Amino acid sequence: MFWREVFRKKCYAVDEGRFPRKLGLLDLTFLGIGAIIGAGIFVITGQAAALYAGPGIVLSFLLGAVAIGISALVYAELSSAYPISGSAYSYTYATIGEIIAWLVGWNLLVEYGVATAAVATGWSGYLRTFLEQNFGFTLPHFLTGAYDPSKGTVVDLFALLGVLAVFILLTIGVKESATVNTIIVVLKILTLLIFLFFGVKYIDFKNLENFLPFGLSGVWHATALIIFAYLGFDAVSTVAEETKNPTRNVPLGLILSLGVSTLLYMSVSFVLVGMVSYKELNVPDALAFAMLKVGNNAVANLIATGAVITITSVMLVMGLGFTRIIYALSRDGLLPESLSAIHPKFKTPYISTLLGGLFLSLLAGFIPLKVLAELVNIGTLFAYFMVGVSVILLRIRNDAVPTFRVPYAKILLPINLFLLLFIMSGLPKETWIRFVVWNLLGFVIYFAYGFRKSRAYERSGVW
Ligand code: ALA
Repeated sequence: MFWREVFRKKCYAVDEGRFPRKLGLLDLTFLGIGAIIGAGIFVITGQAAALYAGPGIVLSFLLGAVAIGISALVYAELSSAYPISGSAYSYTYATIGEIIAWLVGWNLLVEYGVATAAVATGWSGYLRTFLEQNFGFTLPHFLTGAYDPSKGTVVDLFALLGVLAVFILLTIGVKESATVNTIIVVLKILTLLIFLFFGVKYIDFKNLENFLPFGLSGVWHATALIIFAYLGFDAVSTVAEETKNPTRNVPLGLILSLGVSTLLYMSVSFVLVGMVSYKELNVPDALAFAMLKVGNNAVANLIATGAVITITSVMLVMGLGFTRIIYALSRDGLLPESLSAIHPKFKTPYISTLLGGLFLSLLAGFIPLKVLAELVNIGTLFAYFMVGVSVILLRIRNDAVPTFRVPYAKILLPINLFLLLFIMSGLPKETWIRFVVWNLLGFVIYFAYGFRKSRAYERSGVW
């Protein structure tokens, strides 16, 4: 009976949503690119090449693209079967059961929320460099980093203010935010194309000769780190309830946004390790650094500017995903229901948006990027794994009808689960410990609150 209770499932009615449907395919594709391309390529790629993979970083992006690409197909199938908000959380609630759905939701809060904060700290670093180089403006040292008495830093002020600004924009409304995002995404693609166009002329094949300085295991560890660059594609499926014709547009939006990002990542990382020796790339601003290194200061400055704008769009979409996950959890009674109240004028879940923004701005201000990013990777890969299990259950039980189906599923679905576990196992031990502690806390909250307050429980029994 107890097991029946904790694995109770939810039957979703597609018209359950309370948002107006105003997003189209282009909005979704741009939303996806807005979430995907960001601090990963601009900040983490250089460090992963220098510390783990060398020029083999290109292979890490390839491995990441295969794993995440299959996951995108899986998301596409589930979103066409369940065109509802909540993404992985809703899919696992409908197929596996409440306790797993709660854990997935709990990890997605980290994915979207902590990633917003992590990305904000990357954004803040580029912004400081941009302001220093162009306007000679320098913040007092104690306002330039997370709390760390040994370095004399107290708070990362720009990161804190950046997160606050993003959440205020999200409170005003999704369509307005999506329009701002569209403009930014165009600039983001231009920035990377400018890097490619100018960078390709500086490729020196000597830099690529020692292609795998740390062997294939280096490529594997680097994949566990750069997978951060691919996270966020699933933000597209969090707005299914706000999308016109979701069974067509959500799968297409997912596949298009991931495809464009993968092409850009592989070519940008190849050009980067071709321009300068991988050994020199352990810097926070690798793309601008490489341009400075070959003496092209004007393009370096353009890229620094583009990075600031680009990373803004990631914060925006990650923040949007965060508020929608809270909305879905509280609508189902697993978190306090007052969090899902919709603003009468702006039509957004304003309480969760403002509270979330406040909390995350504090994380962004006071906790270092590395600590935040590692936790994001493992929690998100776990959620993708459970979604991979969900689609297998959906197919076995046949209890919803997807309009999009993963091709060659018998081969691709097991490969997906294997690759996700393989990449997770490349993360350091401390990350695994944080992951386990976070999930134990999740269990405690579930049994102390969600288990009895769940709307599934109120209606007594299995949905
Ligand atoms: N994929 C996102 C980024 O690269 C999280 O910043």
